[in-house]
Amino acid sequence: MKILGIETSCDDTCIAVLEATGTVRPLFNILAHAISSQTELNKKYGGVYPNEAKRAHKENLPIALSAVLSKARLPRKNPGIRAIAVTYGPGLSPCLWEGVNFAKDLARSWNIPLVPANHMEGHLLCALLKETEPKTFRLQSAKRVFPAIALLVSGGHTQIIVAKAMGEYKVIGETRDDAAGEAFDKTARILGLGYPGGPAIAKAAMAGRPTLLAAQTTKKILNSKLEIVLPRPMMHTKDFDFSFSGLKTAVLYKHKETDEKTRQSKEYIQEMAREIQQAIADVLIVKTMKAAEQYGAKSILLGGGVSANQELRTRLQKSMKERASGAKLFAPSPFLCTDNGIMPAVSGYFLFRKGLYPKNPDTIEAQPNVRIG
Ligand code: KG4
Ligand code: ZN
Repeated sequence: MKILGIETSCDDTCIAVLEATGTVRPLFNILAHAISSQTELNKKYGGVYPNEAKRAHKENLPIALSAVLSKARLPRKNPGIRAIAVTYGPGLSPCLWEGVNFAKDLARSWNIPLVPANHMEGHLLCALLKETEPKTFRLQSAKRVFPAIALLVSGGHTQIIVAKAMGEYKVIGETRDDAAGEAFDKTARILGLGYPGGPAIAKAAMAGRPTLLAAQTTKKILNSKLEIVLPRPMMHTKDFDFSFSGLKTAVLYKHKETDEKTRQSKEYIQEMAREIQQAIADVLIVKTMKAAEQYGAKSILLGGGVSANQELRTRLQKSMKERASGAKLFAPSPFLCTDNGIMPAVSGYFLFRKGLYPKNPDTIEAQPNVRIG
C-alpha cells in the first residue's frame, strides 16, 4: 500500500510517499520525499521562531506535496494513496497545527484515513531501517533488536528510552534543560559558527587535532598551547537524566575571558569545537552504555539530528566493542537522522495496520508535549 507522511514539528517541511509491503519485517520503498528546509530563515534569526516557521510551512506544504506526487508519478486527484500519517507531536505548537490541518484537509479530499504519528517514535524507527537497495529499506528483525535502549538526540529532545518491542516504550531519562542539539546550536552561535550548530561544530572539530585516538590526542595536547577543558554535566549521576545548559554557560564564560586575538584564531575555534563535541558525546555515551547494561539491551538505537554526528557514532561503537556486551548499534542512514517525511509514514504504517488511529480525523489534534512513553 502507498502511505503519505507529513512532518512539520519543527522548522523543516517534509513530505514522503512510501510503498509499504509486509507486516513482520515490512519493506519500505521511498517513491518520493521532499524536505523544504528553513535554514536560510533560521540563519537570519539564529534559531527557530515558531510563528515564522509556521508561515513557512503554510507556504511550503502545497509545494512539497506537488513535488512529491509528481516525482512519484501520482495524479493529484485520485493518487491511490491508502492512508496519510501526520506528526501530531511532540514539537512546536503552531508548526504541528499547520501540518495537522493540512493533512486533515487532504485526508478529507481523498477520503482516506488519517493516522497521527509520534515524532520521537519516527526518529527511533529510522534506526531500524536497513537499506537493502537504493531507496528501499527493510525493518530489522525484532529478534535482533529488542529489548533495546534508544538514545534520541535532536534539537528539541534528549531522551533515553527502553524499547521492549515495537510500540512499547518507556522514557527512563531525559534532559532537564537544553537538548543535546540545542547545546550544539547555542555554543556554535557563541563561536560565530552559524546555524545549525551541530554540523558546523563537527566540521570545525574535525579540522582541529585528532579527536578519537587517545594516544594521538595526548601527543597533540603536548604540542598545543591551547587546551580547553569543559565540564561534563551529570555524567556520573545515578539516573539517566542530562543537563546541557551548564556546558553552554561554561563555553560562554571561557569565550568571554579569552582575548580577542585568540578568539579569532582557527586553533581556538577548532579546539573549542572539539571539546564541545567531546563533552556532549562523553555524557551521552556514558549514560547510554549504563542504561544498556542495566536493562540487558540487545541493541542500542540512535536517532534524531545529533545521531548524524560521526564522532558520537564511532565512539559509541567503540565503547560497545570494548564492553563486549554483544549488543548491536543501529543508527539511521545519514539522510534519515534529521527530520523527514519518512518518519511519520513508517510509524503511521504500523499504527494503520493495527487499526490504531481515530476513525474520525476531525478529532485529531496537535499535541506539542505528547510523550512516547
Ligand atoms: O531531529 P532534528 O532534525 O530536529 C528536531 O527534531 O529537533 O535535529 C536537529 C538538531 C540540530 O540541533 C542540529 O544542530 C543537530 O540536530 N545536528 C547535529 C548534526 N547534524 C544535525 N548535531 C551534531 N552533529 C551533527 N552532524
Ligand atoms: Zn526531530
